[in-house]
Amino acid sequence: MHDETKLLAGGMLMLSLATCALVVLPYLTVRDPKPTEGLKPYTSAELRGRSQYIAHGCVSCHSQQPRAKKLAPDLARGWGRASVAGDYAYDSPHLLGTMRTGPDLMNIGARQPSEAWHLGHLYQPRAYVHGSIMPSYPFLFELKEKAEAGDLVVKLPPGHVSPGLTLVAKQEAIDLVAYLKALDRTMPALPGGAAP
Ligand code: HEC
Repeated sequence: MHDETKLLAGGMLMLSLATCALVVLPYLTVRDPKPTEGLKPYTSAELRGRSQYIAHGCVSCHSQQPRAKKLAPDLARGWGRASVAGDYAYDSPHLLGTMRTGPDLMNIGARQPSEAWHLGHLYQPRAYVHGSIMPSYPFLFELKEKAEAGDLVVKLPPGHVSPGLTLVAKQEAIDLVAYLKALDRTMPALPGGAAP
């Protein structure tokens, strides 16, 4: 009986230590992150685009968490400085991702600010990146015989839209690109420009 009590007490102790290290300490550290200085809240169009990003599973191939220099060459890859908790202050749920089949997108808005490029790339990635394995998202667009007033016409490199047809972005594509363009955490991570 004596030994069983010890075993139980030891088990409880290990469990509480693990809970402290894995739940309590991280919670206390990042429970209420202040937004990184200069980070703007998402607009409603960007939030709609964020829902598109979630709905189409972009997170299954793209991370949003550049790592520190000593962990990975993300800075050298052009993906930006290591992210800090404040970078995700307006992200609920966060879209950190775990897979990097494609590049990290935390700073894609700064790296590629062109709406036209993003729209064309979503319609047909292989029109821009030879051999790209990213899926195309043609259902976010409409092929019309003639563009109507207010339509956002997407121009692709030659050979990707049948002659005589015009490619028009649907609202979902426009919102998604607004979100991608808002992904920009190139401001200093900590006040005063200190590295994290
Ligand atoms: C099956 C994996 C996969 C999925 C799903 C995927 N992508 Fe990609 N993505 C890639 C790969 C691989 C590349 C690199 C080649 C290229 O640029 O096409 C890429 C590139 C990109 C780029 C250009 C990045 C850069 O640094 O130039 C953007 C922007 C992008 N993807 C956005 C998206 C969005 C938005 C979605 C969801 C609608 C998405 N991707 C879904 C694999 C994926």
